[in-house]
Amino acid sequence: MKPLFSMLLCVGMLFGTEGQEVYEKKCASCHQGYIPMSKIKENFLDHNNTLLKLTAPTLNQLSYRLKQRIGDPKGDNDIHRMEVAAFVSEYVLHPDREKSLCLDDVMQYFQTMPSLKGKVTEEELEAVSAYIYDLEKESAEEDSVQYEGFEQALQQAKKTHKIIMIKAMTKDCHFCRKMEREVLVEKEVADLLEKDFISLTIDISTTELPLGLKTELTPSFIFIDENANVLLNIPGSWNKTDFLEILKEAKRKQR
Ligand code: HEC
Repeated sequence: MKPLFSMLLCVGMLFGTEGQEVYEKKCASCHQGYIPMSKIKENFLDHNNTLLKLTAPTLNQLSYRLKQRIGDPKGDNDIHRMEVAAFVSEYVLHPDREKSLCLDDVMQYFQTMPSLKGKVTEEELEAVSAYIYDLEKESAEEDSVQYEGFEQALQQAKKTHKIIMIKAMTKDCHFCRKMEREVLVEKEVADLLEKDFISLTIDISTTELPLGLKTELTPSFIFIDENANVLLNIPGSWNKTDFLEILKEAKRKQR
């Protein structure tokens, strides 16, 4: 009994550290470890990557994106882990920029990842995926959930000169749903939103607004230009005519 027991112990211990080991041996030469999102943003947005000189997404960027973009993050966790592991295995063996989840503006600084085919085993990939998945859960979530959605919207706004419209809501907000159903879907409103705005919904009961913005009222509509200036911050539920006026006012304030 005894040898078997100690063997099991070893296996267990192996599993705990193996993912990290694989990362350090086979991924860390390119993918740096945890760097706070604020630093990463500063690096790319203000310094054209001269600050950190990253050659690949950092481990927390990978972890965050994989968890957000692959499969259903809110669904069954075991299934989600499998989906993420499947993506990682596939990507590492057959990297493909088209499949990459990185933002274009960040990707321009990176070469396509070389395939690690033959250099890493299926077991190692599984272990390293789990390691990436579990990485710094708290800190990665804390400074990037949704925020990243805003970041992406901002990138998009810079490219398209559209205005970001943040809809601050909560799930059980009656007037939010009412507006969503009765006003935002109106053709005139929807067309204008589509043409000149990037909409971003933020549930303020679970997620902080970007730029240190605050609002207690839902819905609130916050309009932000491509330079992250707040153009308008308007709480309340509106009818179609008034809401169209608000959109036009935001347009007038945009320069
Ligand atoms: C020689 C450098 C290098 C090594 C080694 C490397 N990568 Fe990458 N990896 C990159 C670069 C550069 C990118 C970004 C460009 C791209 O997606 O191809 C990337 C992208 C990725 C992506 C896709 C990210 C996305 O947002 O879509 C995953 C997943 C990934 N790497 C996992 C790994 C894992 C796991 C390892 C270790 C087993 C590893 N990489 C080793 C350079 C590397």
